[in-house]
Amino acid sequence: MFKAVEVKKNFFWVGVIDWNIRDFHGYNTIRGSSYNSYLLLDEKKVLFDTVKKGFEEELLSRVSSVISPEEIDYLVINHIEPDHSGGFLKIVEAIKPEKIFLTRNGKIGLEAHLHRADFPFEVVTTGTEIKTGQNTLQFIETPMIHWPDSMITYIPEMKILVSQDAFGQHLATMERFDDEVDACILQQETAKYYANIVLPYSPQVQRLLKAIKEKGISPEIICPDHGVIWRKKAKEVLDLYEKWSSYKADLRVVVIYDTMWKSTEKMAKAITEGIQAEGVEAKLFRVNLSDWTELMAEIMEAKGLILGSSTLNNNMLPTMAGFTTYMKGLRPRQKIGAAFGSFGWSGEAVKHLNQVLEKMGTELVHQGLKVKYVPDAKALEDCRQLGKLVAKKVKEA
Ligand code: FEO
Repeated sequence: MFKAVEVKKNFFWVGVIDWNIRDFHGYNTIRGSSYNSYLLLDEKKVLFDTVKKGFEEELLSRVSSVISPEEIDYLVINHIEPDHSGGFLKIVEAIKPEKIFLTRNGKIGLEAHLHRADFPFEVVTTGTEIKTGQNTLQFIETPMIHWPDSMITYIPEMKILVSQDAFGQHLATMERFDDEVDACILQQETAKYYANIVLPYSPQVQRLLKAIKEKGISPEIICPDHGVIWRKKAKEVLDLYEKWSSYKADLRVVVIYDTMWKSTEKMAKAITEGIQAEGVEAKLFRVNLSDWTELMAEIMEAKGLILGSSTLNNNMLPTMAGFTTYMKGLRPRQKIGAAFGSFGWSGEAVKHLNQVLEKMGTELVHQGLKVKYVPDAKALEDCRQLGKLVAKKVKEA
């Protein structure tokens, strides 16, 4: 019923599309996702990764449109997170592979998930090569992109990189290739995916990109475990990962705030005017009305970050506390920023926001701007000056 999609002669996409997922461990997947598996036909037939539990039949059906699932000899487990291994038991039962290749951490992790060890696991490391006939599987361990078990597989004869989570996008679509979907949506979803999944592991991404270069790997096709396959823009997405993993960002300042009685909001708007007056793009978001997943992409792509909150019970507003906890965990780096907020009698929010920014290694250009109750004309001018100051520093950076 379901059809495999040919990526290249003897190499097929046999994954599944999840049109309805909207929450991927806190990531708002507003455009759904896909769990990609791939099939290599050679003297040995190889399946790369399984799918999320509940989608096994769709995968097997796509395989069956090309070969009988029992003809598969090898299973490569590039990553064990349940969106790729939840269907492992059913798939293994159906294909009965001769060997299952995975990293040492993959074996430990999968056994801890399944509480079984009776599988034909064969542990591989960076440098392990397996001949499948005409082709070779070259494994490269990529710990923490995305979990400790992760690895990628390169097939040099086909110039195909099977990259598991790396280079993915949470994007459900009937189209399978980068050149078939709207370029702006693809760019947006690739950035959101990096900002919300990969960003904390940017040092590891840098090491991976270096290793790829040193090994002379220049993939023509990149096959991630989510979203569309990169066949026309493989170089472009490698360049984007180079940019994001080295924390390069655009000439823009993002202002994120929440407000109790609109005083902090008045400050926020005056700050954005100051930023714009310096010729720098400003974007303003009230946190409780914004999608956190999209905010992270905005933060990643902007050089400047200004946070604001009213003070409530000696602290920042709970909405800002929640968001900043999420943001800190994703470790954006090399920002230029400041904090602001109005208060009634104690005014600790700015201090706490400064601490958040400092913990992220942000270059603070101001001690923090506090306004008692409602900002008057002078206070609003101070806000504009704060915006200008951040914008100037961003231009110099
Ligand atoms: Fe797509 Fe880390 O799982």
